[in-house]
Amino acid sequence: MTAHAFWDRTAPKYARKPIADPAAYEEKLSRVRALLRPSDRLLEIGCGTGGTALRLAPSVAQLVATDASSAMIAIAQAKLGPDAPTNVAFHQAEATDGVAGGPFDAVCAFSLLHLVDDLPGALDAIRRQVKPGGLFLSKTVCVKDANFLIRAAVPALVAIGVAPPVSALSAGALTDRIEAAGFEIEDTAYLGANRLSPFIVARRPAV
Ligand SMILES: C[S@@+](CC[C@H](N)C(=O)[O-])C[C@H]1O[C@@H](n2cnc3c(N)ncnc32)[C@H](O)[C@@H]1O
Repeated sequence: MTAHAFWDRTAPKYARKPIADPAAYEEKLSRVRALLRPSDRLLEIGCGTGGTALRLAPSVAQLVATDASSAMIAIAQAKLGPDAPTNVAFHQAEATDGVAGGPFDAVCAFSLLHLVDDLPGALDAIRRQVKPGGLFLSKTVCVKDANFLIRAAVPALVAIGVAPPVSALSAGALTDRIEAAGFEIEDTAYLGANRLSPFIVARRPAV
């Protein structure tokens, strides 16, 4: 099964799934908000069903959120009712695509980078979409840092269509890739009890 087919099929279930660790999720949102300015234009890639974009939108001037899955984007767009923030737009796009309206003051990608099949291409696209001096924020699973049982189970879960194809990166390898794409790492933190998904703050140098 392709990644697109997996995420299109998974979208309705993903939309109903409760957040695994609400306290850690709120801490992530707080950390992101603390790094943003009200005048900022923010791009979120791999936005899923749009919940995070809708929570962050009141903290910025404009938010564009994209996802490769048309089913995910359809669910996100259906949330843009009369009570939704009016500064959000959802579009279908690959992580490697340029997005109209860029470059942005900040780009974020949550639970995404371990899923893209062309990580250097995605990071290059992200760097091009961040203004010089702007931020890239990531929190994603580093499967290589998991214990042996989890690492052994992942290929089997992928093979039976229960999990999407993933890259088994360590946190160290992921930060190396982000730096190789032209960013400087400013902070790496683990939120809540999770020790597999570092919250990474990276900056594109101003010059
Ligand atoms: C685990 S979900 C995370 C969704 C959301 N960011 C969150 O934190 O809840 C991964 C999302 O990445 C999207 N995705 C997977 N591969 C992608 C790619 N190559 N380009 C863009 N989006 C992708 C999927 O469609 C899915 O919505």
